[in-house]
Amino acid sequence: MRTPVIAGNWKMYKNIAEAVDFVEKIKPIADKAAHCEVVIAPPFTALAAATKAAKGSKVKVAAQDVHWDKEGAHTGDISPGMLLDAGCTHVIIGHSERRHDHGETDEQVNRKLKAALAAGLAAIVCVGETLAEREAGQTREVLERQIRDGLAGLTPPEFSRIMIAYEPVWAIGTGRTATPEMAAESHRQIRDLARNEFGEAEAAGVRILYGGSVKPENIGGLMAQEEIDGALVGGASLKVDSFAALINFPR
Ligand code: 13P
Repeated sequence: MRTPVIAGNWKMYKNIAEAVDFVEKIKPIADKAAHCEVVIAPPFTALAAATKAAKGSKVKVAAQDVHWDKEGAHTGDISPGMLLDAGCTHVIIGHSERRHDHGETDEQVNRKLKAALAAGLAAIVCVGETLAEREAGQTREVLERQIRDGLAGLTPPEFSRIMIAYEPVWAIGTGRTATPEMAAESHRQIRDLARNEFGEAEAAGVRILYGGSVKPENIGGLMAQEEIDGALVGGASLKVDSFAALINFPR
């Protein structure tokens, strides 16, 4: 039984006051949602205030990135220990916007992931193909590489502390969602890859979230797919009403 996860990735939106206001309003809704886990990922500047506001509630707070070193001369970066200090329990790693805007590689994703897990954070690792890759029939190959290299060297117990977010790049912020069937097919491929790398029980237990233009209007169809264990939501996670509707997806 995989408990569904509804996660909001705020990207570069919301100041501290806006983040706290959102958390205060979403807390009672999340606390009533026994059917799922709720995660929000504010920008770094709002993490400490968001975790303080979320304390004692079901709302878990994730960072959107992390560095692999404990400390050091890495201007602009944040370590796993700093995220724990800010109260985070989760971190998103390898989002396509980090891969594209900052040239993040699968090897760097792997280093970040290992450091985050070693520090005790749970990780949401993002994978997904671009439109050109899908049109060239390379989706499976891309997912295979991202899973193999991004998750390289994880032990099965470490693997059991991650979630995977399948986010086809062409569906992010475009209003163009993968159909539930398309998403489910990629999720099945990811689970197959996980089975080969980490074993049957681990693959059966890992939560695979879909991300890419998820909205209250389409989440029901996505969540109805056996293979889809939750959603990583950008735009529609920024408003309390729509995030509340996502948390209470039709079931
Ligand atoms: P949108 O929901 O805005 O398409 O963003 C998806 C995403 O990138 C979540 O990480």
